[in-house]
Amino acid sequence: MRTIRTISDGWRFLKAELNEETAMQYAARGEAVTLPHTWNAVDGQDGGNDYHRGLCWYVRELSEEETAGERLFLEINGANHTAEVFLNGEKLAHHEGGYATFRTELTGRLGKTNVLAISVDNRDSQSVYPQKADFTFYGGLYREVRLITVPEQHFELLKDGTPGIKVTPTVDLSTKTAKVTVETWQNADAVTVTVNGETKTVPSENGHAKASFTIENARLWDGVNDPYLYSARATLMSGDEIKSRFGCRVFGFDPEQGFLLNGRVYPLRGVARHQDRKGKGNALSYADHAADMAIIKELGANTVRLAHYQHAQEFYDLCDENGIVVWAEIPYITMHMKNGRENTLKQMRELITQCYNHPSIAVWGLSNEITAASAVNEDLLENHRLLNDLCHRLDPTRKTVMANVFMLETDSPILTIPDLNSYNLYFGWYLGELEQTDEFFDEYHAKYPDRVIGFSEYGADANPAFHSSHPEKGDYTEEYQALYHEHMLRMIEARPYLWATHVWNLFDFAADGRDEGGKHGENQKGLVTFDRQTKKDAFYLYKAAWNKTEPFVHLCGKRYVNRCEDETEIKVYSNCDAVSLYADGELIGTQVGKTVFRFRIPLRGTHRIEARAADATDTMQITRAEHPDESYIFNKAASSVTNWFDAEENDPTCFSVADTLAELRAHAQAGAVIEQMMANASASRGDVADAVKDNPALQRMMGRMTMLSLLKQAGADEQSIKQLNRVLQGIKK
Ligand code: GCU
Repeated sequence: MRTIRTISDGWRFLKAELNEETAMQYAARGEAVTLPHTWNAVDGQDGGNDYHRGLCWYVRELSEEETAGERLFLEINGANHTAEVFLNGEKLAHHEGGYATFRTELTGRLGKTNVLAISVDNRDSQSVYPQKADFTFYGGLYREVRLITVPEQHFELLKDGTPGIKVTPTVDLSTKTAKVTVETWQNADAVTVTVNGETKTVPSENGHAKASFTIENARLWDGVNDPYLYSARATLMSGDEIKSRFGCRVFGFDPEQGFLLNGRVYPLRGVARHQDRKGKGNALSYADHAADMAIIKELGANTVRLAHYQHAQEFYDLCDENGIVVWAEIPYITMHMKNGRENTLKQMRELITQCYNHPSIAVWGLSNEITAASAVNEDLLENHRLLNDLCHRLDPTRKTVMANVFMLETDSPILTIPDLNSYNLYFGWYLGELEQTDEFFDEYHAKYPDRVIGFSEYGADANPAFHSSHPEKGDYTEEYQALYHEHMLRMIEARPYLWATHVWNLFDFAADGRDEGGKHGENQKGLVTFDRQTKKDAFYLYKAAWNKTEPFVHLCGKRYVNRCEDETEIKVYSNCDAVSLYADGELIGTQVGKTVFRFRIPLRGTHRIEARAADATDTMQITRAEHPDESYIFNKAASSVTNWFDAEENDPTCFSVADTLAELRAHAQAGAVIEQMMANASASRGDVADAVKDNPALQRMMGRMTMLSLLKQAGADEQSIKQLNRVLQGIKK
């Protein structure tokens, strides 16, 4: 009989770069902690990019009862990013990769008393991914640690953290017949497998067994409509037993129709998620995962991109149960490391081996924006080819995909390696105008009509404390984020060929290197805040577009109470097709429409606003303010830049920073000024600048931008912008 025991209590934590002997010696002085645990829950979320990246220890005694049993294994489900396991001072395991399960056997190494000492290391590394990315690399034993006892004859536990069982359902949609192959690995001669009430005993050769079943009239795993799960059970004469759920479904990908589920067009429209929370870091509980899934369900999304690494098994289980199609990936991200190839292959082997049975997973992500800080060279290409081949070898049933950075040339050879591609685009936030997203996909789809393309990231940072009636890119207001997503929603609805689209991000998350938008250490592109307490207005935009189950109405701008204007816009999001607005009990009007409903009302004093649609209502209170509420404004620098420039009397017959890069470059004298300035800037940005410089597609995009928005984007201060403007004003057009 197999027993699984989670050991969360009784650990001592030592934040010190000691050797195992000293760690065990000083364990008693360590901080008493309970797992899951991370030592960066605070300093990894407060900005300054100074969170503790080091080697730390977790030490715990094992009781006699805990070490009883024929064969004893230790299972670690998440240790970031390199861990070593010592039992009574003897090193048993070394594992590189912070997001997958690994196990080691304790049998035969046990003494009268037994002390486990586990070192975990999240320091810089030249060979373990990730090392360069926009999220905090929390250190710690941040998922459950378990002891597993099994009989002498048992299912495999060590190889790549395998579940020991692999279930492959192949569905014939025309007959709805599912052929189900169950493979298991064990040190026994025969295995008994049960699927859908049918049981077979099959021989095991070289530790491997295979049993086949047929399910007539199979009930399909049909996404959010019907996420039906079957279960396969395997047992050994010794009594060891393992189970796995599976689902019968068919995923299809078509350049024109996009994604297909069970033979019908099924556009994947959803969000991306990181695995952390305010105050907890990545040491999450099952309840945290379930709460996040409830928010995905409320939104009405049918897909989630679990970025940028392997997530907890509990969350893949929740996706299986709730019919949410998953994009799963490894943290091969931003910068290619020449010593990192083996680590990418190992992390992919573990991801596929450990997650293969989840019906919700549709694709394996090879990398994310890997050309952002690396040139496309042979070593990078070969790494991707090997990863792609590995995926197809370990799992011929799923497609591979890449999330590409916006400036990657669309004819880059790397795009021909994976089965599918998607782009991360931030036009209208990091650079350029919203419409450039539309242009990008139209150009791509026209140029590559046979390629399946998706939209793997898009978003804008918003701090719910910031508001404006004239929202603009870079102001971090809730209003600009909502406008941004209104545009992207329209853009996506007009391009059904996009196989999947994932909002970056469902939740604000920790990126300790960030200090912007009035917050420290946070990426604020979430539709929901980091503490899960505030759903920003943009959340309700998608709920109105995607959630067809519960009629609702949402008044935008509830946090934008004090408005210094005589008339104001009241915006309502709803999944109903008619919305009535009331002010102080008076009907202002009723609009028939879809998703977004805009009204304007005069502002005199304090007003109680109510929106009604079907049986749903929502209310708020707003006030006419005499002066602009300064607390609503961020980016004072940027906003003042805007203001001073607007005020500046430029001579229109001369150049200025209001001209586009292309216009300035087209003029010999003005162009020379710009080239000089660019050369100085790129000297400090090394390989990213090279990637930008020799990238015609990006140059074309940048060419269409005004010098002012490029400079604001690059974080230039008011003085240097004024300085350049004066120089350009000296050059006649
Ligand atoms: C990138 C990257 C994300 C990052 C995002 C952002 O596209 O893939 O990890 O968080 O941009 O800048 O918000």
